[in-house]
Amino acid sequence: MPRAMDLDIDFVRAQFPAFSEPSLKDRAFFENAGGSYACAPVIDRLTRFYRERKVQPYAPYEASRLGGEEMDEARMRMAHMLGVETEEVSFGPSTTANTYVLAQAFRQWLKAGDAIVVTDQDHEANTGPWRRLADAGIEVRVWGIDRDTGHLDPGGLDGLLDGARLVCFPHCSNVVGEINPVAEIAAKAHAAGAVVCVDGVSYAPHGFPDVGRLGADIYLFSSYKTYGPHQGIMVIRRALGERLPNQGHYFNGDTLYKRFTPAGPDHAQIAASAGMADYVDALHARHFEDHAEPGARAAAVHDLMRAHEVKLLQPLLDYLAARNDVRLIGPRDAAVRAPTVAVEAGRPGEAIAEALAHHGIMAGGGDFYAVRPLTAMGVDVGKGVLRMSFVHYTAQAEVDRLIAALDHVL
Ligand SMILES: Cc1ncc(COP(=O)(O)O)c(C=O)c1O
Repeated sequence: MPRAMDLDIDFVRAQFPAFSEPSLKDRAFFENAGGSYACAPVIDRLTRFYRERKVQPYAPYEASRLGGEEMDEARMRMAHMLGVETEEVSFGPSTTANTYVLAQAFRQWLKAGDAIVVTDQDHEANTGPWRRLADAGIEVRVWGIDRDTGHLDPGGLDGLLDGARLVCFPHCSNVVGEINPVAEIAAKAHAAGAVVCVDGVSYAPHGFPDVGRLGADIYLFSSYKTYGPHQGIMVIRRALGERLPNQGHYFNGDTLYKRFTPAGPDHAQIAASAGMADYVDALHARHFEDHAEPGARAAAVHDLMRAHEVKLLQPLLDYLAARNDVRLIGPRDAAVRAPTVAVEAGRPGEAIAEALAHHGIMAGGGDFYAVRPLTAMGVDVGKGVLRMSFVHYTAQAEVDRLIAALDHVL
């Protein structure tokens, strides 16, 4: 039975060496959507790999065997948390590299005249590579967002599905922040005979999702934003992965997780990814008394993280919505969005971020490679937005401090 409780923020922060790092002391971190701090288990595994196992893995000597086993462990434990098969998880250099490779596979698989659907809510990584398929005679249909709110209306997809083979959309945009109903959208696309590719990069840092339940055929996220090493993690469900043409060495084509990762794997970082599962398990053990399955543990930790985030986010949204000198992008209700908050302020977002830095706030400004969403919402991309993003390890006092600093700089 779970011990009903709030997230133990002191325990959480103790798992992140950055919070006891002298050079980061007295700085409140609000650029987590660009990349999170790494948790201790990841750093420990990475260090151990470089010290003790930095040899070609899967050879019959101890250091190599341990290195290979740790890489396998990472793939397996991530798969368990994500609710998919171990072979369905691949590690690539980044989500952007992963989508470019996937687009090559679809270029070979689709026929001229086939249609695909892309959005203008996506980061460029999950839209640009797909739009380039137009060069191969693929019809590219754009599922547009609301100009005022950035909302992606699932109803807007209905008229775009006839003859579509692929629908690409984000679980959550890195500037709008709204959480899209992935299961509902995937069901619609599947009913029309299309497969779906979901960019989960801006969602996964707020709790690993059950990808199996969401119904995505492809689900992508970047582990450097989920407390891990700099990798792109990609779930490709077997039914699709075995049909798409292999993009790796021809003799590796029978191994699902090698088919869409032609770059040689970064052994140490793959191994260190098991540390993300260690972290989720440590949070689970701290907050719950049961010994649930890995997927159930990840789900419980996800909910714990989200509850903490929602509690801290609402006052920030209320504060920004009440100001008449900024345009708050995305929903004002914390329950339906991630704590990735962009505002348009009539001057360059980067200049405001710089002013915030003088108050000990680490935030970012610019377009965040969300040029299409910002343009679609009428934002001047030359100025961009100020983005303040946090995660579950953020403390109430840091949000209070951000609001006080905004009072000075806006
Ligand atoms: C929503 C979203 N998708 C994709 C990416 C690209 O990820 P990567 O840096 O791993 O290529 C980012 C990076 O910021 C992002 O925010």
